[in-house]
Amino acid sequence: MQKLVIEGGTPLFGEIMTQGAKNAVLPVLAACVLCEGTVHLKNCPCISDRYASARILSALGAKVKTEGNSLTADCTGLSSDEISCYLMKAMRSSIIFMGALLGRTGKCTLCYPGGCNLGPRPIDMHISAMRKMGGIISDEHGVISCSAPDGLKGCRHSLSFPSVGATENIMLAAVCAEGETIISNAAREPEICCLADFLRACGAKISGDGGGRIAIEGVKKLTAPDEAFEIIPDRIAAATYLSCAACAGGELLIRDCAPAHLEAVLPVFEQAGCRLKVFGSNIYIYRKGRLRAADTIRTMVYPGFPTDAQAILMAPLCTAEGTTVFVENIFENRYRHTDALCRMGADIKAEGKVAVVTGVPRLYGTVAEAPDLRGGAALVCAALGAEGISEISGVNYIDRGYEEIERVLTAAGAKIRREAEKLP
Ligand code: UD1
Repeated sequence: MQKLVIEGGTPLFGEIMTQGAKNAVLPVLAACVLCEGTVHLKNCPCISDRYASARILSALGAKVKTEGNSLTADCTGLSSDEISCYLMKAMRSSIIFMGALLGRTGKCTLCYPGGCNLGPRPIDMHISAMRKMGGIISDEHGVISCSAPDGLKGCRHSLSFPSVGATENIMLAAVCAEGETIISNAAREPEICCLADFLRACGAKISGDGGGRIAIEGVKKLTAPDEAFEIIPDRIAAATYLSCAACAGGELLIRDCAPAHLEAVLPVFEQAGCRLKVFGSNIYIYRKGRLRAADTIRTMVYPGFPTDAQAILMAPLCTAEGTTVFVENIFENRYRHTDALCRMGADIKAEGKVAVVTGVPRLYGTVAEAPDLRGGAALVCAALGAEGISEISGVNYIDRGYEEIERVLTAAGAKIRREAEKLP
């Protein structure tokens, strides 16, 4: 067990390169299951969720090699269609192997996925979509057995909610299915477009990604692209480092972060009084003096304000002058970071979907545990701006989505180190 020890109050200066997107690399790794030949990926983030996906591929019989931010996966000789509960529990996005495996082998056995505890995270939309495409799915004591004896058939799906994971699962099931698949009310997140770009590079016929209606014409097979495929930048990691600067003060240049993917997030920093400039694919942020409260922040599906940035933006707004209201519309239990922020001196009243944050002049260092991935990142942001020392345990959550967060922040002047937690 490890913890991050952070001495707050040191402004940040310098440049941060944006890591590859967690939520893009995971579905692309699942898509490798459908490909013949060796897939080369670049800009893969070195995060534990990526390693968990690579372990699933290896357990299925793929040859996977990783070197820094590059990865090769050859799924030509897949030897298994079962994913153990142990591997499934490592993360939520393990569920999208269902569509990929059904598409490739016509059957698979897996368990309910794990991931952060953000309230109930059902997979009903995934299962009903697979059934509609001809999958026979049974669930015995949490083990999900799937088969498609007559192969998967393209069909029309109208999603009751634009679920990111369900859209990806259907895309993966549909690319090699017979006939045409239409997904209405599809998720529009940039990570969906990244998956579609990868699948197209492998020979899939997909159009409409990025809009609410995705059309997929099934093809006989997918082949690994000749060129290495590049994973898009992580918009949530970029928002996190912007928030670190907003909390600690100073000036940072966030490099190669696809600012267009942050259109709902950047205005919040500006309303709060940070100076922002976008130069091509880079964002410069400067923060001096006290922040101001922002307009009500309502989490929504893309292109709305991302739920994954809710906790992260709450950290700087805890010390802004005035009151900011948050409304969390995507997940039921996504204010678990507020207890620790209150222990640092924040004034937050959270009930149901709403959290009311009344800014206090300063936060103080505390001992806290990361409640989940983004909640943990929010505590790191807050600790960088707090007076005194904070110790944040539960670093395994943070490592799921951030590449060596302490190295990145130390290079920008932060006083942060990783230590082993002493056993009581
Ligand atoms: C993905 C992201 C996660 C992000 C979330 C919302 C990955 C690996 N994770 O998660 O970081 O916070 O999108 O942007 O990409 N739902 C159902 N039934 C289903 C599926 C979803 O009710 O079958 C509900 C969920 O409980 C949740 C909402 O739909 O309330 C959104 O979930 P979804 O978009 O599917 O999120 P994930 O794909 O799990």
